[in-house]
Amino acid sequence: MFASRLNSIITAVETLLWGERSLSMTLGRLNHIGVATPSIERSLERYRTLFDAHPSSPPFDLPAQGVRVCFVDAPNSQIELIEPLGPGSPIARFLEKNPEGGQHHVCFEVPDIAAARSHFEGLGVRILGPTRIGAHGTPILFLHPGDMGGTLTELMERPQQAH
Ligand code: CO
Repeated sequence: MFASRLNSIITAVETLLWGERSLSMTLGRLNHIGVATPSIERSLERYRTLFDAHPSSPPFDLPAQGVRVCFVDAPNSQIELIEPLGPGSPIARFLEKNPEGGQHHVCFEVPDIAAARSHFEGLGVRILGPTRIGAHGTPILFLHPGDMGGTLTELMERPQQAH
């Protein structure tokens, strides 16, 4: 009830501001689930041994984000294994609390990251830091878990080709 009233108010405001152009957001495809790990190698070994699942490419460093990353393919999505890169890594604190690692974030695709940022800023949803280039080479941003029921949520601009 409240949500549908809120939606109609948003649509009305958008129409006032931008005419017919709508900034309403559709939840896109689940691109990946981010899993923090103290060792990508050990995690890969576990996926290989238990599921015969394999990485889509070798692990690689993302220095701008302070992480080392590797994707494991599932038929409908991917697991993004994330290991700290250097002492100031943003996932260092997560691993202090969860030494064995664990689920860290979910990532949904959106058609246009700038439109997504405006949409969520307009709703007062906190966004962590600037829009930056993510592990798939497209722009990403993170929504604050405190505004997402405790789930750190990454949004990534939909890649031109499937990952
Ligand atoms: Co991610």
